[in-house]
Amino acid sequence: MSETAAQAEKPLAPRRVPQRVVSGMRPTGRMHLGNYNGALRGWIEAAKVARESFFFSADWHALTSDYKDPAGIPAAQREMFADWIAAGLDAEKNVFFIQSQVKQHAELFLLLGMIAPIGWLERVPTYKEQQEQLRDKDLNNYGFLGYPVLQTADVAIYGADAVPVGQDQVSHLELARELVRRFNHFYGKEGKPVLVEPHPYLTDSPKILGLDGRKMSKSYNNAVELGEDPESARKRIMVAVTDPARKRRNDPGHPEVCPIYYLHRAYSPPARIQEVEVGCRSAGIGCVDCKKMLLESLLPALEKHRAARAELDRHPGRVDELVRLGTEKARRVAEETMVKVRSAMGFE
Ligand code: TRP
Repeated sequence: MSETAAQAEKPLAPRRVPQRVVSGMRPTGRMHLGNYNGALRGWIEAAKVARESFFFSADWHALTSDYKDPAGIPAAQREMFADWIAAGLDAEKNVFFIQSQVKQHAELFLLLGMIAPIGWLERVPTYKEQQEQLRDKDLNNYGFLGYPVLQTADVAIYGADAVPVGQDQVSHLELARELVRRFNHFYGKEGKPVLVEPHPYLTDSPKILGLDGRKMSKSYNNAVELGEDPESARKRIMVAVTDPARKRRNDPGHPEVCPIYYLHRAYSPPARIQEVEVGCRSAGIGCVDCKKMLLESLLPALEKHRAARAELDRHPGRVDELVRLGTEKARRVAEETMVKVRSAMGFE
C-alpha cells in the first residue's frame, strides 16, 4: 500500500503478546464496513494470537444513551453476533456472550463506582463530545457518566491484558487502567494486585468514512452493510460524495478527503490504490471510473459475507446456542474474579 498523507496517522504503541483478550460492542444490529474495519478486523487479529478471547454484546452500555427504548436490543444483538461469525470471528474457539447475562459485571461496576472519582469521569473526552453530538438525547444521567466504569468492570472481570478497540476507545481504557490501579492500591495485599491492568490492542486497520464523508454510522444513514446486496451497494456507491472541491471532470482531486478512496484502501489491491490515487490527483480518472473500480473489489467482498450469513441463517438456533455456551463460560470466569475481589475487600 502506498504511503499517503491520509495514512500518516498516529503510530501504534509497541504491543505485547496478548494472553487474554476481551472486547465488546453495543448491539446496533447488522454490521457495516465501519464496524468491520474499525473494530472487528482488530478482534479477529487479536484472537489469532491470544491464548483466550472473549467478545460480548454490551447491551447494558446501549442503555446509557438509549434507555428510553430497549425493545430492539435482542434482535439487534442476534444480527450482530451472526455478522461477527460471518465476518470471520470464530465462535467455537472464542467465547461470545451477552453482558447483561453475566450479573457479576454489575457487581464489579458497583464496587468500582465507589472508588471512581467524578473528576476522572468528567474528564474523559467522549463524555462531553457525545453530549454535544447527541443533542437529541438527554445524557445527563448517572449511567452515562459511569459508562467507562462499567467498561472497566467488563474487562477487569476477565483479567484481560489486551483489549482490541478502535482509537476512539483509548481514553476509556486509560481510565480503566487508572481505576484498576486505584483498586489494587486500596485492596491489594502486600503489594499484590487483585485486578489486571488492561491495555488497548490497536491494529492498523484502514480508516473508513461514511458515504457522505462523515464517520460511518448507522444513525447517519451513510453506511454500507457487510452483507448489503450488490444492487443496493452499487447504487449507493454511485451517488456517494467524493472530493467536494472536484466539481468538474478535469479538476484535480484530493483522495485524502474522499470516502471512495478510503474504501479503495480497505478493499482494493495495492496497484489499484496507487492507480486511483495518481489518477485522482492528476485528473487522469474521473469519480465515476474510480467508483466502478472500487465496486470490482468491494462487491465480491460483500458477496462473500452474504454467502456466509445465508449459510448461518439456515441454522437459526446455532448462534443462540453458541452464545448460551459462551455466556456460561464467561460467568464461570467472572465469578472466579469476583471471589478474589470480595475476599480482597472483606466481603466473604
Ligand atoms: N465502549 C465500547 C464502544 O462503544 C463498547 C464496550 C463496552 C467495550 N465495554 C467494553 C469495548 C469493553 C471494549 C471493552 O464501542
